[in-house]
Amino acid sequence: MAGLITMDDLTNEQIIDILGDAERLLPVARGEIYLPLLQGRILGNLFFEPSTRTRMSFETAMKRLGGDVINLGDVKTSSVVKGETLYDTIQMVDGYTDIIAMRHPRQGAAQYAQDAAQVPILNGGDGAGHHPTQTMLDLFTIKQAHGHLDGLRVVLAGDLRYGRTVHSLSHALVRFGCDLIFASPDLLKMPEEIVSDLRSHGANVTETEDLYGSMAEADVVYMTRIQKERFADEDEYARCAGAYKLHARHLSEVKQDMIVMHPLPRVDEIDPSVDKTRHARYFEQAFNGVVARMALLCRLLGVPIPAKIEGGAL
Ligand code: NCD
Repeated sequence: MAGLITMDDLTNEQIIDILGDAERLLPVARGEIYLPLLQGRILGNLFFEPSTRTRMSFETAMKRLGGDVINLGDVKTSSVVKGETLYDTIQMVDGYTDIIAMRHPRQGAAQYAQDAAQVPILNGGDGAGHHPTQTMLDLFTIKQAHGHLDGLRVVLAGDLRYGRTVHSLSHALVRFGCDLIFASPDLLKMPEEIVSDLRSHGANVTETEDLYGSMAEADVVYMTRIQKERFADEDEYARCAGAYKLHARHLSEVKQDMIVMHPLPRVDEIDPSVDKTRHARYFEQAFNGVVARMALLCRLLGVPIPAKIEGGAL
């Protein structure tokens, strides 16, 4: 069965459908209704890179739906340290599970794993490549705030060079006719091949270094962490660390309904003063990872979600 490696694996109709499924699953994610749609199914969590939200929300999603999870655990205590190849690891876990969520430092690793596996692979981040399950929760959060995705003006800011979340998200937003403003230091610009690909799909893309000046008309400001672990050269990182520090005082001129998002973890790019403003949406965004991943797990496992979810007391 096919997995989810990049956003190209989903049509716009499927995206909207999955977001609708996710919305109906909100009471299940909150623990108000128990809906064991995935009873007897096993998710394999294979995280070869650090993760808090992605790994834990996959686990929460599976458990809230009555399923089970096995974890590779710490890479240092697995056979990876004995020199086992990714191909062999995947072959094994393929036999233990019904579906795999994987994160790996190497770009392209998720596709490689899908080629080696029978079960669907959910790409939880492949190096600086893609992060499509994050994009689904990002789209859910944007739709929740604005009621739709079409034609919004979205500022994507920070590390656009190495940030996989913004690579996947910008592809998806363009398909819904959004205007994109890429705000980054010169060193961390969106890769040229991504910009030209987006433009060839008719996207209206603006590039700037001036984050604060580009927020006035925005519906969404999506901040990102500078991906320290991807820099080959520490001096280069030092030159762009702390490039943007969004503070509540920068928000006085923005639209009332503009939302500030961040895939988290944040370092210093969003000051805690923003947390208490009406614009902050990053913690809800992280919670939305549970519903988005529930909907994706069901979809890829071929389990339909009831049109109406009602439950009695637990
Ligand atoms: C992101 C990632 O791993 O790409 N985190 C996440 O999944 N929420 C962003 C980051 O690490 O900066």
